Order: sequence, then structure tokens, then C-alpha cells
Amino acid sequence: MIKLDANENPYGFPPEIMVKVFRDVSPLDFTRYPDAGATALRESLAGYTGVNLENIMVGNGSDEVILNLMLAFGSGAKFAVATPTFSMYKVHGRIASCEMVEVPRLKDFSLDVKAVKKAASSPGVKLVLICSPNNPTGNAIPLKNIEEIADCAKSLVVVDEAYVEFGGESCIPLLSRYPNLVVLRTFSKAFGMAGLRVGYLLASRPVMDELLKVKQPYNLNVFSQIAAKAVMENLPIFLKRVERILLERDRLFKELSLLPGVEVFPSQSNFIMFRTPLPAGTLFGRMLEKGVLIRNVEGPALPRCLRVSVGAPEENMVFIKMLGEILKGIQV
Ligand SMILES: Cc1ncc(COP(=O)(O)O)c(C=O)c1O
Repeated sequence: MIKLDANENPYGFPPEIMVKVFRDVSPLDFTRYPDAGATALRESLAGYTGVNLENIMVGNGSDEVILNLMLAFGSGAKFAVATPTFSMYKVHGRIASCEMVEVPRLKDFSLDVKAVKKAASSPGVKLVLICSPNNPTGNAIPLKNIEEIADCAKSLVVVDEAYVEFGGESCIPLLSRYPNLVVLRTFSKAFGMAGLRVGYLLASRPVMDELLKVKQPYNLNVFSQIAAKAVMENLPIFLKRVERILLERDRLFKELSLLPGVEVFPSQSNFIMFRTPLPAGTLFGRMLEKGVLIRNVEGPALPRCLRVSVGAPEENMVFIKMLGEILKGIQV
């Protein structure tokens, strides 16, 4: 099976870093509870992001920090989301009894800034979530849009930068000016650590104080803390892999565009969304029969759309070959 459905990093964790991680873990680390404040990791993250230690919180994947945001700020209230986007916001909102309000993106998937601003200042809306670069559409939001929204928002403005190492502008420079702005990040994509579950959040002190009321003390295990710190200490190795993924993304984009009837959407991330003449469910099933797992992202705003993660070159080659075989028999 070629797995291109979850935007994971196609390259295994670097063996030389893995050796370092195992060397740094001691037998006592297994028997004792982890550092609840994950101080060593947060210190590394302070260096990477330029944000103060006290404005950084780590979580068991960014999924956990999304849930914490919903629990701390959204319970019994509403949150607004620029859709179509990452499906887990809705799930975490539901767990926290926080009602989702959709703010549809424009035809080209850019933000409807006026509508988002309106939602961000509506009574009852406590959070506005914007994913940039956006999963699954791939486009990033210009910083000036976020600034405009944060300027007038009565709610928190949460920007999910899970894919920012692959493209788009980060909102970090805005954090010092907007205490209502929150940035989410993850080690699951550019840093290839989806299995170890490490995400983090950057926010002002008052936001952090509320979040700490719902955070589980030992949310991030020792091993993941040490591994994430090792990533930060060996950043060039990981950034080189990001460059390789970007080159592959451009190649994959060109090859997809050459297939008959395929519409490809530009991506600033490590995945590409595309549309074919076939119903997305049909194409998904046929690709699966050929051993290639991709993601069906079809919905009212994304008719006949699927998403493929940028894999290793040999995986992408098989993906293109199989998709080409399926589409060859289709009248465009
Ligand atoms: C936009 C976005 N945010 C967050 C996540 C979750 O990341 P994590 O693995 O850190 O929980 C994903 C995973 O696909 C994602 O696409």
C-alpha cells in the first residue's frame, strides 16, 4: 500500500537523530512522570519561533491544543471556521459542546475577510479558526488579512500553521501586537513526528492562563519531549527534507496537470488537491484497488475533489501511473 492520505512526511525519521534520542532517554525517564511544563522542549521552541517560553504551550499533537482551546474558551458558546478546512475542528468543538459556525471561503478558497470579521465580532462567537496554509485546499492566507481580522475581533483568532514550514507567511510577527491572536503548530508534518504526537501553541499570557486550567499536567510523554527537542537541535537535516518535498510537490503538480481532465489546485503545503471528471468516491475506490491510498475530500464546496500527500519520488510515480491508467478510459 502506498499511503498518501494523511500529509505525513514520506521520509523516515533520520536514523542518526533516532540514535541520539535513545541515548538521551534514561531508565529513570521511563519510571518517573514527565516534566509537566516540558521546559527543555519549550526552551528549544522559544529559540525556533522567537517567542518567549511563557507564551508557548505544548500538546499531545496540535489536536490536543485545539481541544484545549475549545474547552477553555468555547464550551457552551460558538466558534467560527473558514470552510472548507481541516475536519477535526468540528470534532473537537463537539467534544467541548462548542457550536460550529461556518464562514465559507470564496471561490478561489481565499478568505471572505468581511464575513470572517463579522463572525469574529458576533456575540456568542468566542473563537475564529483559520487554517493557513489550508488543509485540504493548499492555499495560504496573506498576513494582512489576519491582521485586519485580529484588529476588529472580539473573539480569539486562531491561526493553524500546521503546514507553514512548506509555505505561506507565519503570523508570529503579529503576536506581540494582538493578545487575542493564537498560533498553532505541529511536529507531525515538516518534522516527521506524527506518530509521537507533538504540537504546540503560541499565545499571550492571559490566553495561556486560561488554557493551563484545562491542560492535563502530564500531557506530553518523556520520549516525545526528548525527540522533539532533538529535532530542534538538528533543524538543518529536517529543513533539507522539506526542500526535497517542495521539489517533489512542484514535479507532482506538473505531472497531475498533464493528465486528461484533471484540474489541479496550487499548493503551498505538502499535499495537492485535485479534481477529476469521476465522482471522488469512485476514484478513491479505484486507486485503493491499485494499492494507493489518497483522501476523498469531496463536499458541497469541493465537488469531485481528492487530496494527495506529496510522497517520496517512487511513491508519487506510482500514484501518477495508476491515476493515469484510471483516467485513460474516461471521456473528458
Ligand atoms: C490543519 C491541521 N491542523 C492540525 C493537524 C493535526 O496535527 P497533529 O498531528 O499535531 O495533531 C492536522 C493534521 O492533519 C492538520 O491538517
